[in-house]
Amino acid sequence: MNNQLILQILKKKELSGISKEIVKEILESYLNKNKISSENLSPKQAKIIIKEIRSKLRNYAGQFQKKQKNRQELLERDKLNELLKTHTSTAERLNFYPELKKLLTQLKIKSVLDIGCGINPIALANKKIIYYAVDIKQDEIDLIKKFFRKNDIRGKVFPYNLLKINLSFPKADICLLFKILDTIEKRAAERILKSIKSKYILASFSTKTLSNKKMNQPRRYWFEHLLKRINLEYRIINSENEIFYLIKQQPEPKTISLPLKPKTN
Ligand SMILES: C[S@@+](CC[C@H](N)C(=O)[O-])C[C@H]1O[C@@H](n2cnc3c(N)ncnc32)[C@H](O)[C@@H]1O
Repeated sequence: MNNQLILQILKKKELSGISKEIVKEILESYLNKNKISSENLSPKQAKIIIKEIRSKLRNYAGQFQKKQKNRQELLERDKLNELLKTHTSTAERLNFYPELKKLLTQLKIKSVLDIGCGINPIALANKKIIYYAVDIKQDEIDLIKKFFRKNDIRGKVFPYNLLKINLSFPKADICLLFKILDTIEKRAAERILKSIKSKYILASFSTKTLSNKKMNQPRRYWFEHLLKRINLEYRIINSENEIFYLIKQQPEPKTISLPLKPKTN
């Protein structure tokens, strides 16, 4: 029954790219929370469940891709700039990638974790670094996997829902959280930050309004307060369309092994 529900949920065109595994996870959590068994659902109950899950999924996926159709072809022909223009976020960041690459070199980054990656890894991944990329959307994941295979990039690309409760991420020198925190609850942002095991975190936010105008107040004070409260140091880097927070995490304290028993002479 769950399988049928998942297929029904994904019938909406704007949601069809979301990973089935993630829809299954969200659906099961919804059914458990509401103590509903998916066996013997009436058509009316099934309809309500499908509507609820679709509405949850719409909150975090669907609206960023510009044109999808020729992506495979662009990848095959190595037209990477054109490919990056098929996603609003990477399109708007195109002129700033040289600066971001410089920053990664200055920080001596050897491994990257890109959360809610979209197609950003296509701009930043290379053979010299290990790149972990996660997103809720299966079509982005498949495209990045192909790009990694084609360019011999080391790392792992997999579907992941960062709103689940028990988060666990691979360890990397830097974690990228580009244009993802504005769309989620503030409480989830704290949970995500605390679960990242990286020396640096680079989080970004758009500085344009939905109607494409420059924001009067681009700084995210809620985020700055959160960073202060959990004792994370940061500096701000501005680009034309985005504000970046470069956050430095304290190294984990070294564990000192103490003798279990005091030595007796
Ligand atoms: C605005 S786009 C930014 C993409 C990329 N970080 C960039 O800036 O180029 C937000 C991305 O987050 C992904 N996303 C949204 N909700 C998510 C979730 N709960 N778990 C994982 N990824 C999510 C979307 O699929 C989308 O690719």
